[in-house]
Amino acid sequence: MKSEDKRLLRVLAGETLDPPPAWMMRQAGRYLPEYKATRAEAGSFLDLCYRPDLAAEVTLQPIRRYGFDAAILFADILLIPQALGADLWFVEGEGPRLSTITSADDLARLKPVEAIHDTLNPIYETVRILRSELPKETALIGFAGAPWTVATYMIAGQGTKDQGPARKLMYGDPATFDRLMDIITEATIAYLARQIEAGAEVVKLFDSWAGALPGNVFHKYATEPAKRIVDGLKALHPNVPVIGFPRQGGEKVLDFVAATGTAGCAIDTNVDPAWAARVLQPKVCVQGNLDPALLVAGGPLLDRSVKMLRETFSNGPYIFNLGHGITPDADPKNVTTMLEALRS
Ligand code: CP3
Repeated sequence: MKSEDKRLLRVLAGETLDPPPAWMMRQAGRYLPEYKATRAEAGSFLDLCYRPDLAAEVTLQPIRRYGFDAAILFADILLIPQALGADLWFVEGEGPRLSTITSADDLARLKPVEAIHDTLNPIYETVRILRSELPKETALIGFAGAPWTVATYMIAGQGTKDQGPARKLMYGDPATFDRLMDIITEATIAYLARQIEAGAEVVKLFDSWAGALPGNVFHKYATEPAKRIVDGLKALHPNVPVIGFPRQGGEKVLDFVAATGTAGCAIDTNVDPAWAARVLQPKVCVQGNLDPALLVAGGPLLDRSVKMLRETFSNGPYIFNLGHGITPDADPKNVTTMLEALRS
């Protein structure tokens, strides 16, 4: 099967399909016993990311179990900071920790963008393995974090509630902040281009903390970097669609889509599907936005919510997905129920 015949790529090219293609954010993860087993074999989360055979294996696990229309490369948005020279480690049960960037001196210690591939080569190898092992109808999605979201972790050295440290640097030392955003933007173009050259057929840009940007700088720090990345990739690979995820951007996602020219826009759990179907879907293929808590709760509301989304988005290009990643306490059986409700 040619790439363009895959159901995920057909909707991103503007076709309407019913039932819509489906995949889930964080579909390879701790809610699956087979993921936990492979992760234990790897030793740590980062070892898993950098072992192409095992990273490919966990990417394939949810495809085998559920037959999703797309696989998402198993990796993490924080591999770019690490490839640029930041220290990165994960504290069990808490989350990521990084050495911090808060001054021009810290920036000067980062490696040049061309050096990222020395660290990231195993990721490209994972992509090559996946393209040869995935079922012929399954699309392969590559990804990266958007510059603002990645910068929030590089500046704070960890996840924060309100991205306060990043906003303080944005105001307190704009030259350093803007230079950091530029470096991440350039590295992201180089990284995603290599993923595409290795076999990724779609790429997604995760701006998980876009909602923390003050409204007056949202376009400067979420839309403009995304546009640079989309333009940079289009110059090299004009036919590869990009899915944007300006999470919690509210109505600003309309201008985001118009300015960046992304083929797809993922919507978070906060977005009213009726609004998105009316205003956003006529402009772009919409992806989302089932509440991941329904995969913990299950029951009749899961079934009804899935059918409501399918119905609401039935008049245009649509990718069924969650509004954010599936959580470790989700019941794998509820994912089967979800797909049955969608495809019945
Ligand atoms: O979606 C997928 O299945 C593909 C793989 C993927 C992971 N992280 C694997 C992962 C993707 C696309 C990401 C993106 C990511 N990583 C984001 C943006 C998307 C979002 O969820 O908002 C962010 C903010 C990160 C950074 C990150 N990685 C954090 C904050 C954490 C710790 C929290 C947690 O969920 O444990 C991670 C770890 C991580 N990334 C895990 C997985 C499967 C869990 C690691 C484990 O096995 O212990």
